Amino acid sequence: MKTYSILFADPDQKVHDGHRRMIRALRPDWNLLFAVSAREAMNKITLYRPEVVVSELNMKLEDGSDLLKAVQVAYPEVIRIVLSSEPDGESEVILRSTQSAHRFLAKPCKGEILLEQIEKAGSLRRLLNSRELLEIISGIPYLPSLPQLYHELVRAVESPLISLSEIGEIIARDVSMTGRVLHLVNSAFFGLPRQVSNPQTAVVLLGINVIKSLVCYVKLFFAAPDIIMPGLSLDKLWLHSSLTARLSREIATNLNSPPSVQEDAFLAGMLHDVGKLLLLDHPRYFSRVLQPMSGNSEKEFSEAEYKTFGVSHAEIGAYLLGLWGLPDPVVEAVACHHRPGQLKLEKSTVLVATHLANAFLCMAAGEAAVIDPGIAAEVHVKRLFDAWKKRAGVLYLESNREAA
Ligand SMILES: [Fe+2]
Ligand SMILES: [Fe+2]
Repeated sequence: MKTYSILFADPDQKVHDGHRRMIRALRPDWNLLFAVSAREAMNKITLYRPEVVVSELNMKLEDGSDLLKAVQVAYPEVIRIVLSSEPDGESEVILRSTQSAHRFLAKPCKGEILLEQIEKAGSLRRLLNSRELLEIISGIPYLPSLPQLYHELVRAVESPLISLSEIGEIIARDVSMTGRVLHLVNSAFFGLPRQVSNPQTAVVLLGINVIKSLVCYVKLFFAAPDIIMPGLSLDKLWLHSSLTARLSREIATNLNSPPSVQEDAFLAGMLHDVGKLLLLDHPRYFSRVLQPMSGNSEKEFSEAEYKTFGVSHAEIGAYLLGLWGLPDPVVEAVACHHRPGQLKLEKSTVLVATHLANAFLCMAAGEAAVIDPGIAAEVHVKRLFDAWKKRAGVLYLESNREAA
């Protein structure tokens, strides 16, 4: 079993005593650190560099800044978990912490749940063992929304006549907003018995007040500036993501999957390239990848990434979604959408659907794309290839006509 080094930050010594007893009994090899103030926590993090920090909300440094925010800036590779005694899950302080924390837990928290959350987050972190990449993606996640959808959402929450389902419909069309609301709703804070994959359901569960706070006060969503990265069009990325979501769901339906798998396939399709969005804020990454590229297709882009960094936007996006607590089949499909063969286990329908939808839509756009030989060898899947290829062509043409 893997060992972790964890720092607990909480002003209450009794809370520390409880954690120490519980972890010593269940995971005696783990390296534990404790701090009763934000300053003590920062000093110990600087000295011992723990992999995970578990902190009560509102731990403040001398200058009034928040401990987790400070950790995010100074040591972005550290996984940050909130363990809070704040009883109101909708309070602004909790909603604000979504900008600096990867996971949220409410006190009292059962020992097994705390251990499971730490181990899940820790094992994901070890997936990406490049410190450079961890620093890039664990910092402040820059996830811009499509300006037109962002402004639509702002108008919607300000209108007294708008319904939650209309707000959900806007959010479901945006890659970043979808990721953000699912992050929040899937946090252990809301104590839901199952993981949520549908952004519209997430909006209903969060309610109008939380959505309003997120938009107006917490400012969780923001519009992308006009020019983000030369050679990368946000409009194209959004169109590609939403078409992949639609086709991926259709493929899962054609493969006779239950509705929950169809929903996961839609979500994985929507978020499969979220890693590219995360990397937009890091021009150095793009310039190092784009330099050796000869063409301009997604296949060539991902191959150049693997050659330069050993990983791609697929694993990078999945890493964040995994830390955010999104459903495992979605995280796995995002991680392996270019290389399903990386997964030694049986491939899930969500992965098959996302991989194929992405490949067929790249082909429809005139790009080179490769279908995984393992998936192509599945007779019941292969017999539908022509139909899906045609469908990708129709969806692509329709969307381009609408956009013109
Ligand atoms: Fe991709
Ligand atoms: Fe893609």
